[in-house]
Amino acid sequence: MSDYLRELFSLHGRRALVTGGSSGIGYAMAEAIGRAGAEVVLVARRPHQLDQAVERLREHGVTATRISADLGARDDVQHVCDTAGDIDILVNDAGNNIRKPMAELTADDYERTIAVNLTAPYLLGQHFGPAMAARGWGRIINVGSQQSISAFGDSGAYGAAKAGIAGLTRSQAEAWSTSGVCVNTIIPGFVLTPLTEPAQAIPGRVEALAARHMADRNGLPQDFAGAAVFLAGDACGFVTGQMLFVDGGFSVH
Ligand SMILES: NC(=O)c1ccc[n+]([C@@H]2O[C@H](COP(=O)([O-])OP(=O)(O)OC[C@H]3O[C@@H](n4cnc5c(N)ncnc54)[C@H](OP(=O)(O)O)[C@@H]3O)[C@@H](O)[C@H]2O)c1
Repeated sequence: MSDYLRELFSLHGRRALVTGGSSGIGYAMAEAIGRAGAEVVLVARRPHQLDQAVERLREHGVTATRISADLGARDDVQHVCDTAGDIDILVNDAGNNIRKPMAELTADDYERTIAVNLTAPYLLGQHFGPAMAARGWGRIINVGSQQSISAFGDSGAYGAAKAGIAGLTRSQAEAWSTSGVCVNTIIPGFVLTPLTEPAQAIPGRVEALAARHMADRNGLPQDFAGAAVFLAGDACGFVTGQMLFVDGGFSVH
């Protein structure tokens, strides 16, 4: 890498915590951030998947560890805060989506969805954000959805959480940008991952969604690598409070 590119994009010397880093978009962002030089800590529930992801990262020369935690549970979120150590780059990627018609969503569905998709990013931000600000440098990358800006596909509680995360990003950016902490939201299109398997199983749905992207295809986890490196590093120093649409043009089609 040239010195010029290193200055803009190298993440050497940084430590990143990536929730949802054992699968899909989260894994792809963890790998990209790790291969750009950062040490990576993955957080998710299933230990076996975490171990496999850590192994894959190590094969790429990335220094990686993992914390098994259910981010829908406050005690587990606290455990992450207590054990992760100093974090320079926080990626809030872990998400769940309970797909039901609006009227069928229960209060439990709602609370479980908000807990993982909005409360956990808020609590992790409250823990790591001020520490980043005190050190004078930090990055928070929150993961939104098309539902951050528009309704989509029988998942109203998820939509409320994902709209909330765009607001959370702006509030965090307002609080900490003055101290060198840039906070942004990545907005995916429809991405082929385990999360979207129920939608992928509906005949014709994958093709129909592909056609809604200007790029005429659905997203893949590796589409998020470049955006993750950009938003995690010095190149993004004057970019904060924003939504970055990594969606093949879905939102403007
Ligand atoms: N795929 C899409 O089309 C799409 C579109 C818009 C936005 N997004 C967003 O992108 C993010 C990643 O989604 P993905 O599609 O990459 O999904 P994925 O491949 O299913 O990965 C989800 C990750 O989150 C973890 N996770 C889920 N619930 C958790 C919990 N309660 N506590 C801790 N970790 C948890 C999962 O691990 P465990 O199950 O082991 O916990 C896994 O690592 C999510 O925020 C999602 O809302 C995805």
